[in-house]
Amino acid sequence: KKVGIVGVPFEKGQTKYGVSVAPAALRAAGLIEELSQIEGLDVKDYGDVEVVGGDTSQMVDNMVHLQQVSICNKKVSEKVSQILKDDRVAVTIGGDHSIGVGTVDGHYNTNKDMILIWVDAHADINTNKTSESGSVHGMPVALLVKELSDYWPYLPTMDWQVPKFSIKSLGYMGLRSVDPYERLAIEKYEVPAFAMEDIDEHGIQKSINHILNVLDPCMDKPIHVSFDIDSLDAIEAPSTGTPVRGGLTLREAICLMEIIYSTGRLRAIDLVEINPALGNECDRRRTIEAGLCVLKAGLGFSRRGTAPRGVLDL
Ligand code: ARG
Ligand code: MN
Ligand code: MN
Repeated sequence: KKVGIVGVPFEKGQTKYGVSVAPAALRAAGLIEELSQIEGLDVKDYGDVEVVGGDTSQMVDNMVHLQQVSICNKKVSEKVSQILKDDRVAVTIGGDHSIGVGTVDGHYNTNKDMILIWVDAHADINTNKTSESGSVHGMPVALLVKELSDYWPYLPTMDWQVPKFSIKSLGYMGLRSVDPYERLAIEKYEVPAFAMEDIDEHGIQKSINHILNVLDPCMDKPIHVSFDIDSLDAIEAPSTGTPVRGGLTLREAICLMEIIYSTGRLRAIDLVEINPALGNECDRRRTIEAGLCVLKAGLGFSRRGTAPRGVLDL
């Protein structure tokens, strides 16, 4: 098994300083070393996508830093495509969730039949007309899906990204802060969405298995997990820009990732919205550690442990 890691130190999809530090903070916390310890996993670090400035003027109403978001995401898309073509699972470390536009675009360009599991407290399916914040990290899903393309005005600089992904291949886990028009979109298109109350009712295993069944009944499609760290309860992952209480426990998140890993079809993971500049040292460490646990579970780490190398051959 092979994995490629890319960092995206980008934070212009929201307003708080610090999400851009996450790739460096995760690397410093031993990201590459920890993943390399997973049995049979070949880890390649593709470094960070270079983030440059851009025109900061508001080109489109209620859509902050659109040009920077666009420039960065074009590079992210190309990088994710490259990693997948190198036959590696693409792991993208954000950055805020606006980079999901690039990761999913890059994956879709490589695998047209991919399905997308958006693990998040939020639905991130606002357009510039429905968003109350103007922050693009609340809009990536609406930018990606073809069914909502008519709801957008012309977006200068975004011509490289043509929405082709179908909302019928999208599922949500962990929702608990959904804006009115987001709820409308989810209901209109009957997106399989397990909000926290559904996970309470069915449990994490049945919930994720149900989504996988609905999106991929033949069990043959490549899977993309876009994991927003704020899907976790704010106690588990305090260092994030838009924390919401009442979320997933780390154990539920690990279980979720293990189940998806066990399909053998997990091709891309995004880990976004870790903000090491928020909270105290303890919050910071806890949040980064939680992120590492999620990635490890998605890449085959077993909580049962592994046999010592060589012993089984005796
Ligand atoms: N729904 C809110 C908005 O559109 C919050 C989005 C938070 N998104 C995130 N990726 N943390 O602004
Ligand atoms: Mn979120
Ligand atoms: Mn998000």
